[in-house]
Amino acid sequence: MTSTNNERDSLADKVRLILAPIRGVTDVVYREAFAGCFGGFDEAVAPFVPLKQGHSLRPVELQQLAPDRNRCMPVCPQVLTNHPPTFSAVLRELRDVGHEEVNWNLGCPHPAVVGRGRGAGLLSEPNRIDAILADVLKDAPVRLSVKLRLGYHDPDEFVAVMEVLNRYPLARVILHARTADQMYDGAVDMERAAQVLALCRHPFVFNGDITHVAEFSERRRKLPGTASWMVGRGALGNPFLPALLKGAPPLSVAVRRGQLIKFHGLLFDGYGRMMSGARHQRDKMMEQWDYLSRSFADPGAVLARIRRSSYDQYESVVDWVFGQPLA
Ligand SMILES: Cc1cc2nc3c(=O)[nH]c(=O)nc-3n(C[C@H](O)[C@H](O)[C@H](O)COP(=O)(O)O)c2cc1C
Repeated sequence: MTSTNNERDSLADKVRLILAPIRGVTDVVYREAFAGCFGGFDEAVAPFVPLKQGHSLRPVELQQLAPDRNRCMPVCPQVLTNHPPTFSAVLRELRDVGHEEVNWNLGCPHPAVVGRGRGAGLLSEPNRIDAILADVLKDAPVRLSVKLRLGYHDPDEFVAVMEVLNRYPLARVILHARTADQMYDGAVDMERAAQVLALCRHPFVFNGDITHVAEFSERRRKLPGTASWMVGRGALGNPFLPALLKGAPPLSVAVRRGQLIKFHGLLFDGYGRMMSGARHQRDKMMEQWDYLSRSFADPGAVLARIRRSSYDQYESVVDWVFGQPLA
């Protein structure tokens, strides 16, 4: 074996990759199709389920999260809540379908969420996080992990939050290294990510803008001891990325094109089964194209053509798209 292969193998052995939750995109159909075409991810965290005070999960939510339905890519459910009794009841429901870990969302930045003291809205209230964890973890039937940002407005809010999180037996802490004010843009703060890693007594997962192999190596050097790496938009735009991050050799254009066509087919058929009616199926595919289009050399042209297509034209436009040069 050559030294390059040795390096690749040792890289692959060490790297653990998690598919990030992207609401509207990385649902069970997507995860299944992804695992069937590209590989590279060890597991996924599912997009959040917003809990309604006093309500159980809907049967469809439970079915789509059930481990049996997610054999292709193990999934950790994520919940959005600030209400301990509902939180505890839902943890029991998720335990009953076979989950051992549930992730608590402390990172969602959307005004309707933070304004109601949920998601990243809780980051400026470490005492409230403390009270919720104390209540929920006193008899939790599953392990809890947390996905958070550096802060809501203030990028140093993590200091007080980590002090609270370190007092509880969490399964892991996933950091999206931005504030909620940044939403999804602006630089990821590697200096503060290193500070969170240094403070964190739980397995640490880094998330944010992992899009290229070279930059990933740089992040790994800056954050030694990171247990896993969570990748979202980088993999949605380039589904070959996770395998490349694990040291797989680049594939030929013909092979990549074939895998993208297969992926699209699995998504289209999967949403056909999941959605009620062909129009909903096509609407769902439109959301996927926001990211899928980035696999092509001219994503703007691909997206414009797909968006302009009428319902009846969809399949012929997709044929045209798959004839276009890849990125
Ligand atoms: C459209 C969209 C939906 C998202 N939905 C969720 C979600 O349901 N739960 C969550 O924790 N993060 C969610 N995120 C944040 C991502 O999981 C991730 O933290 C963020 O995109 C940064 O990682 P990336 O640069 O690898 O994409 C979402 C992001 C986007 C852009």
